Amino acid sequence: MSNQYVIVPQNYRSDSMVSISPADKRYFEQAQAKQKSPPQQMIFGGYSPSPSLQKSLSTQLSEQSMDDFGRMQKDSDTELVVQYILQLRDTEKREQALSELSKKRESFPHLAPLLWHSVGTIAIFLQEIAVVYQHLQPAQLTPTQSSRICSVLGLLQCLALHVQTRSCFLRAHIPLFLYPFLNTSNKSKAFENLRVTSLGVIGALVKGDDPEAINFLMQTEIIPLCLRIMKKGQELSRTVATFIVQKILLDDNGLNYICQTPERFFAVSQVLQTMIDDLHQSQKDDQRLLRHIIRCYLRLSENQKAGEVLKKYLPQVLKDPTQSFIKDEVVKKWHNNLLQNLSIK
Ligand code: TRP
Repeated sequence: MSNQYVIVPQNYRSDSMVSISPADKRYFEQAQAKQKSPPQQMIFGGYSPSPSLQKSLSTQLSEQSMDDFGRMQKDSDTELVVQYILQLRDTEKREQALSELSKKRESFPHLAPLLWHSVGTIAIFLQEIAVVYQHLQPAQLTPTQSSRICSVLGLLQCLALHVQTRSCFLRAHIPLFLYPFLNTSNKSKAFENLRVTSLGVIGALVKGDDPEAINFLMQTEIIPLCLRIMKKGQELSRTVATFIVQKILLDDNGLNYICQTPERFFAVSQVLQTMIDDLHQSQKDDQRLLRHIIRCYLRLSENQKAGEVLKKYLPQVLKDPTQSFIKDEVVKKWHNNLLQNLSIK
């Protein structure tokens, strides 16, 4: 995959790309030179869909076969869901149908394949998304619009989570349609909801530790978008964005990718540091965010060159092995391992 997938405005990058002093850059490059093997090339998971997946990709259920499906199941829940899916086509009934379907996300396990394979449903979702673009700049998203798009995003999350649809979802490049939502900075509740729910879809994709998903997100430059949110976002969006970066780092290709250049490494480590400083200064007890930050640091410390550099750049508060603001036992252990990897204790 190459840059052809990038549909986000170019200028968002400058924000998360830090400027590094020549001395820092040299320091990183020296650490890199110490490493015997050259930076590992990224391995692209050569994707080939399974026969069943190919079949499902090419089979679009007609309205008729959806009716058949409903009858076969003799299940009132299925009938109801199918009815709502059909109602999506009626613009009058769409808002209600979206809301009802998104409520069924957890209780109805076949929702994702039904949504994906029913004719026109995904096109309707994309249409709903496109309507919102015009309200991003200037920012004027009403709570009603926000809640309607969040129902759509909830359904996309369900497609991202389901093993039978995740791959189709990626191959259709659906996540790219959400990047403009992540690239917003308006502080209102409507926009924060939009960002958190969009991040939720990306979070669902990375949850399965699927290298195909990680590769897709990396190649389409989700990292700078996440870093921006981690730096400036509100509590919840910050936490989900950090979780996504953590999941990318836990992937071998992801770690190599981030540690490949000093600019990438410092962009990530400076944002982690900013969040630690924020937590420390505000005395906020956000253990969940702390957990993700420590896990990110620990993973970075497993890369030889990044580890060398982290020795110097780990935030002062984290260099103290006796610090008391980490409460969770697992996280305490990660912190210990981190200090060990960096030979700090
Ligand atoms: N195009 C940039 C790059 O590949 C994307 C990017 C910006 C990035 N900030 C980053 C990638 C931080 C990884 C980490 O370098």
